[in-house]
Amino acid sequence: MLQTSEIPKIRKDSAVVTKEDYKNPRTIPLVFHFEPAPFESPDVRLRDCQIQRISIEGKDIYIIDDFFLESEADEMRTFSETVDFTKSIYADQGSKEQGEVPARAMDNKEKWKLLSSPPQAMKELYKFFNMIAYRLDADVATLPWELFDGKICSPSVATNKVDSISSESMELGKHEDYNTEKGIAFGLPTLYSEMKELHPNKFVNGSEGKPWLVSLMLYTTDRDFHAESYGMGTVFCTKNGKVEAKAECRHMRFVLFEGDIVHGIEKSQIPPGVKAGRVSYVFKLFLNPKKANGSLKKQFAELMQTYEES
Ligand SMILES: [Fe+2]
Repeated sequence: MLQTSEIPKIRKDSAVVTKEDYKNPRTIPLVFHFEPAPFESPDVRLRDCQIQRISIEGKDIYIIDDFFLESEADEMRTFSETVDFTKSIYADQGSKEQGEVPARAMDNKEKWKLLSSPPQAMKELYKFFNMIAYRLDADVATLPWELFDGKICSPSVATNKVDSISSESMELGKHEDYNTEKGIAFGLPTLYSEMKELHPNKFVNGSEGKPWLVSLMLYTTDRDFHAESYGMGTVFCTKNGKVEAKAECRHMRFVLFEGDIVHGIEKSQIPPGVKAGRVSYVFKLFLNPKKANGSLKKQFAELMQTYEES
């Protein structure tokens, strides 16, 4: 039975910022934990989803279609049409300095609503996070709300509204959401140790006993947007920037990927005179294991496999 009435379980908390560059008043360490819960609706939906898995240099991307009800898809489209997207957003500081044309983004107040009074589709995604926490025995939460390093803010919840992207902007916009091997700016406790000391700030993402950082991106498009031919999906690249894979921007598709894969918005191929845009809603998450043995990345792959086969 599809239980859309189940309520997502979210708990607010504050992260400890450990990197000196990020300890300043503009950093907001607020995090949202998605409490473990055996919700039925994500489980039932995933059994009927189309799930594609792609790997680039050992890092995983899951492209998931058909998770949402039609009513939720319509509500999200209306939501994307009515929000103002009042901010400019750049891929990173380098792209900004080199003249990337920024996308439009929701401001903090608008984003706050995504968590405090979410559209039904968002609730269903949160329940998916609750279910993952339950099934993988992990703490699942957003990264700190805004990490400011003195130059640019990296938000845990990001939105991108675009109606065109040049090839230059596509190149300039390629980025990683984080890189755990270079180090993270906040502390993650080892949940399986009595002392609850912090994990080292540098680790191989999703390796045995270590946290796994992933990004989840949901697309919405204008009604007359042609996903197959208009571009503006997401390109995924090798570390040296060569495009290896692409997710088309289909309405209500979501993509869960390791955000340390270099990625960016694909250039637009909109015919002259046509105006049609798309929005992506991105949640940067960490999964922190409650057990020392096993890799959450592998366990997630195994869980998805059960749905791919059903
Ligand atoms: Fe990103």
